[in-house]
Amino acid sequence: MCGIVGYIGKKQAYDILIKGLKRLEYRGYDSAGIALLNGGMTLFKKAGKVIDLEKIVDKNNIYSCIGIGHTRWATHGEPNDRNAHPHLSQSGNLAIIHNGIIENYASIKAELQTRGYVFHSDTDTEVLVNLIEEVQKAENTSLDNAVRIALNEVVGAYAIVILNKNNPNQLIAARKGSPLVIGIGLDEFFIASDASPIIEYTKNVVYLDDQEYAVINMDGSYSIRTLGNIEKSHVIKKLEFSLEKIEKGGFDHFMLKEIYEQPKAIEDALRGRMSAQQGWIKLSGITDYLNRIDKAERFIITACGTSWHSGLIGEYLIEDLARVPVEVEYASEFRYRNPILHEMDVVIAISQSGETADTLAAIEIAKSRQAFIYGICNVIGASIPRASHSGSYTHAGPEIGVASTKAFSTQITLLTLIALQLAHSKGTISTPKLREILYELEQIPKKIEETLLLNDSIKEIASIYKNATNFLYLGRGYNFPVALEGALKLKEISYIHAEGYPAAEMKHGPIALIDENMPVVFLATNKSAYEKIVSNVQEVKARKGKIIAVVHKGDTQIRALADHIIEVPETEEILSPLITIVPLQLLAYHIAIMRGCNVDQPRNLAKSVTVE
Ligand code: G6P
Repeated sequence: MCGIVGYIGKKQAYDILIKGLKRLEYRGYDSAGIALLNGGMTLFKKAGKVIDLEKIVDKNNIYSCIGIGHTRWATHGEPNDRNAHPHLSQSGNLAIIHNGIIENYASIKAELQTRGYVFHSDTDTEVLVNLIEEVQKAENTSLDNAVRIALNEVVGAYAIVILNKNNPNQLIAARKGSPLVIGIGLDEFFIASDASPIIEYTKNVVYLDDQEYAVINMDGSYSIRTLGNIEKSHVIKKLEFSLEKIEKGGFDHFMLKEIYEQPKAIEDALRGRMSAQQGWIKLSGITDYLNRIDKAERFIITACGTSWHSGLIGEYLIEDLARVPVEVEYASEFRYRNPILHEMDVVIAISQSGETADTLAAIEIAKSRQAFIYGICNVIGASIPRASHSGSYTHAGPEIGVASTKAFSTQITLLTLIALQLAHSKGTISTPKLREILYELEQIPKKIEETLLLNDSIKEIASIYKNATNFLYLGRGYNFPVALEGALKLKEISYIHAEGYPAAEMKHGPIALIDENMPVVFLATNKSAYEKIVSNVQEVKARKGKIIAVVHKGDTQIRALADHIIEVPETEEILSPLITIVPLQLLAYHIAIMRGCNVDQPRNLAKSVTVE
């Protein structure tokens, strides 16, 4: 995810662009850049935040009424000055900013290279701007027509804005799969990824739809056409949000926004990596090293915090499906306990930020003992993926709330793909079963959407238990790590003491805590151990504990015992954590809000822990 902004009008573009980029920085902040037309093309770009960009800008060379700006969250190519946007075409006539991923960039790049194009970055974006230039040249056509033709050739997602040195009175914008809003002022236009850079200047906006492009002129005119070249007329909408709300995409907090982004995040994590219909999975990080990974005698998963919880689910998945032994280690313990490792081990390091010091150190130990390192990370180009031999990105988009939500669900998504790909290659899963699971995996985003509709009833439950001093979370099998994660979410943001436990283990200790003041959250969606879970619910009931149960739709047995029921859609048992975690995230969120806590920046915690 990146932030893009453009301006054309009578004002100084630079100030509007910089301010806009700062508002969009939540979308990515690994590098930033600006291009302006003032006689020629003036370009400034820099790794780091927008304030780092401002430091390198020559303030004598920014006078211009037209320009584009970008704040990046790297997807293709590590975050550095070279890969920062805007990117120029070979001739230097065109500058482009882009949010999204061009999936077929490699083949287009190879073709352009044969025609003499030289690339100066590792990005898919530079490929796109050169494709547009090549089409314009080859077809001898207008820039907007070249954009249209080129976009019909690319596969993937994009929101783009293009600045043309040869026409300082025009901007061209297009979108597919990534958001783009055009703000319509008095003889001026603003273009941005969301309305936050626009709202200060105008409340009139047009939202570009997928597969549409806009030609926006200095004289106050604009036109929108489809990529099929059909003219569109759009209703101008009125913005009604406060600036702060828009920065959080209309949500009160980043955490809530990120909880709601999970269906999209999972879709992004799956995109291009599997097909249920054709029965294949291809994580290139696995495929490229299949010889090594397939021969692993053991997997060791190492991580911290929420990522460690997803690692536990990974253990269940890999052992269950691929039948290879797995150990899950806290990175902080692993690094200091002189672990036994050898060259037939594969270490999977999981980290949202890719910068967690203990996880990095665990990787170094494992590497020094010849183990193969597979990194699962959200932030592109971070230290952990760079230190790994291979790996996969979760593509969850920037996670700003300190309590991890969508990173967790995308990590589990990837671990599911890893386990399935290994199982497929080892023959420990039949093709029909593989297809069945993949089909169900494709349904998960929809089922999470359905689960999110329970928000109001979960809020009601939160209001009943907001003053509790302790909570117990219980689950079995795949739902045991979910119980741990649910308890962690509550602790982190509401400061209520909470424990997650394997449901059956409760009788070896936590049962002593249960009385009429103890809320106990049961994750009871397991088909395989349903009767056992019912017994555990009975045990809590007999001691007057308050039971909040997450069950499958239509459950009758637990409904009869529980004080509160949260009914979630049914799925394959191995995929159930992707659904059952959602109500627990919402429960923690609402309780924390009701207790007046800062959910996005909980006390004493940090998003990226770069110290031991
Ligand atoms: C911190 C964050 C947690 C996160 C943990 C591991 O404690 O607050 O949300 O789970 O670090 O971070 P990582 O970036 O390695 O996943």
